[in-house]
Amino acid sequence: MLSRAEIVRLLSKEDLSKLCKEAYRVKLEEIGNKVSLRALIEWSNVCSKNCFYCGIRSGNNIVSRYRMTEDEIIRLVEKARLEGYGNVVLQSGEIESESNTLFVERVLKKIASTCGPSFGITLSLGEQSEDVYKRWRQAGAHRYLLRIETSDCKLYEKIHPPQCSYERRRECIRSLSRLGYQVGTGVMCALPGQTIESLADDICFFADEDVDMIGMGPYIPHDETPMGRGVILTESERRERFELALRMIAVTRIHLRNVNIAAATALEALDERGREKGILSGANVIMPNVTDSKYGELYSLYSDKPLPKDDAGEGVSSLASALEAIGEKLLLRERGDSPHYKTKRIST
Ligand code: 5AD
Ligand code: SF4
Repeated sequence: MLSRAEIVRLLSKEDLSKLCKEAYRVKLEEIGNKVSLRALIEWSNVCSKNCFYCGIRSGNNIVSRYRMTEDEIIRLVEKARLEGYGNVVLQSGEIESESNTLFVERVLKKIASTCGPSFGITLSLGEQSEDVYKRWRQAGAHRYLLRIETSDCKLYEKIHPPQCSYERRRECIRSLSRLGYQVGTGVMCALPGQTIESLADDICFFADEDVDMIGMGPYIPHDETPMGRGVILTESERRERFELALRMIAVTRIHLRNVNIAAATALEALDERGREKGILSGANVIMPNVTDSKYGELYSLYSDKPLPKDDAGEGVSSLASALEAIGEKLLLRERGDSPHYKTKRIST
């Protein structure tokens, strides 16, 4: 493990290509030349929250809201499974209600019964009570993604309305761990007012919370948000942001070693080879969006978010070739569990 001072130095001063090479070496040592695949299904853009940075915040009344039916979700899962995906990620805005909990419970049970226990199910449905997390776990979910967004409470308060609580979010991450989920968290990089020291603390937060998976990406302004209105990034700002996100991935890999790290979709928004570059900086997971393209534009968290491609099958084979070209093998029909979680279970 690195010291905080060393993390700060690597994030700010180390030569980028040297840093990524070292992180990639650690990735090969801990994971091998393998990349895990997840099918991302954005099944609803309805959200009760109003985060100042996000394009599907409840206060954005320009975006039309959609919610897939149970059948639509199951059909997408089946399609993804046929294309070679061994697991899915169900993502939506945050809704805390009994009817939403029941809906998700039904979908989970259906997926678990049709796809069997070897098929992986990850949820990314925001903050919920421990009881709800427990019900979803019992219904078949075994991984959960809940980004802390920033571990700096002051910055957290600046980018969220007063109803959002940093402490509650951290408590949710802890509940998920207690319930035996593989837990993923992460942050946005290059938020206004964020310092290198704060990003170093984010990496220390991942270690302190002993999480199994990390998803990080650059913050990208969205025009229909208080933080992003009228903000247009210059080419050099886009490059800087992209490189900072790669540095975060690389230092996280070196510090935490055997966790799953996703090459986030937001990397692709800033660089057309963003995913491959993420892998070469230490990431080992990619999450293609398999949602119907008719919904893609409505799940616009940030500007230039890549749209889902309808031909998921074509997508998988071209992805496999792109990865083969950099010496990496795409894992098909696998759950892709976090090696860190497995070692935790053995040692406790
Ligand atoms: N730029 C980058 N990432 C964003 N997210 C939301 N809005 C933005 C944005 N403008 C990320 C948050 C959230 C995830 C689903 O999307 O980190 O947790
Ligand atoms: Fe809702 Fe998540 Fe967007 Fe916040 S970041 S507004 S919780 S979808």
